[in-house]
Amino acid sequence: MASGSACTAVKIGIIGGTGLDDPEILEGRTEKYVDTPFGKPSDALILGKIKNVDCVLLASMYVLDRMCEFLLLPFCVQLNSLHEIPPGSSCHTSYLFAFVARWERRVRWLARVLCERAFVPSSASTSVQWKETKHSKEITQRSKASRFSTTVQQQAIREECQTSLRPQTFYDGSHCSARGVCHIPMAEPFCPKTREVLIEMAKKLGLRCHSKGTIVTIEGPRFSSRAESFIFRTWGADVINMTTVPEVVLAKEAGLCYASIAMATDYDCWKEHEEAVSVDGVLKTMKENANKAKSLLLTTIPQIGSMEWSETLRNLKVVAVKLYGEKKR
Ligand code: ADE
Repeated sequence: MASGSACTAVKIGIIGGTGLDDPEILEGRTEKYVDTPFGKPSDALILGKIKNVDCVLLASMYVLDRMCEFLLLPFCVQLNSLHEIPPGSSCHTSYLFAFVARWERRVRWLARVLCERAFVPSSASTSVQWKETKHSKEITQRSKASRFSTTVQQQAIREECQTSLRPQTFYDGSHCSARGVCHIPMAEPFCPKTREVLIEMAKKLGLRCHSKGTIVTIEGPRFSSRAESFIFRTWGADVINMTTVPEVVLAKEAGLCYASIAMATDYDCWKEHEEAVSVDGVLKTMKENANKAKSLLLTTIPQIGSMEWSETLRNLKVVAVKLYGEKKR
């Protein structure tokens, strides 16, 4: 992998999850509270360095935020599953909009702060949905190997069977800072160059890592039923979470290099003789996994910092600007 000797400095955004929200990973930390056209992010941003590379850490984890709120306010889940209240009704939308808005703000804010530089968030919990193939041995091995393994995502699916409540674009006509329509290409949702670095570093560290995988994002906060879990497998999804889409879409609209690693915590509920996913189980495995994810970040970030990103970032920006239509801005 070529490293530039005098490369442009990059600033890296990290969206941390359980065990990855440790500000101690950053040297020379400062906290910053900010406001944005989309409101305040859910937490302070922590600015600092990892081996001389500028980083911004947003420690709060969306899945956990959601789970906490869902535990505190379980009526939200009831509304969701009863289908008695249409998605557009005010109490349903106003409560859930808090999640959506917070989510949107987060990426938007990072987009502004990072000034179009490389961005490596680490998606926290996922569950494994290994595809069934003709080679049944392979499935068993993969299934076994997967609970504590890492996947560097290559493709993403948004699960649309449930009503999707999160904005999928900054360009929805409601913000004067984002006018126009953005038809962003999503053939390659994740940054191939960043993925390559992550895969290489995971190998170097000897982590059990799947170099590609398709992630399906469900709306949550509830977990899937067994029938849904089986459907996702037939779609070819390897891992499942509640966060990657639309984050990956918004990041692309914002012109960021975006890659995501999935630390597998459970088998959702498709696998015989395995306990179905639960919050406690996810948190427990995530904590056990955290050191691996941390070492992957600590190794990958200096490597990214030593590489040249100007052309990659220029290309991302060109795609976005061309599509927004400059006259409308
Ligand atoms: N995060 C961790 N495990 C999950 C699961 N089974 N479904 C959705 N999100 C998850």
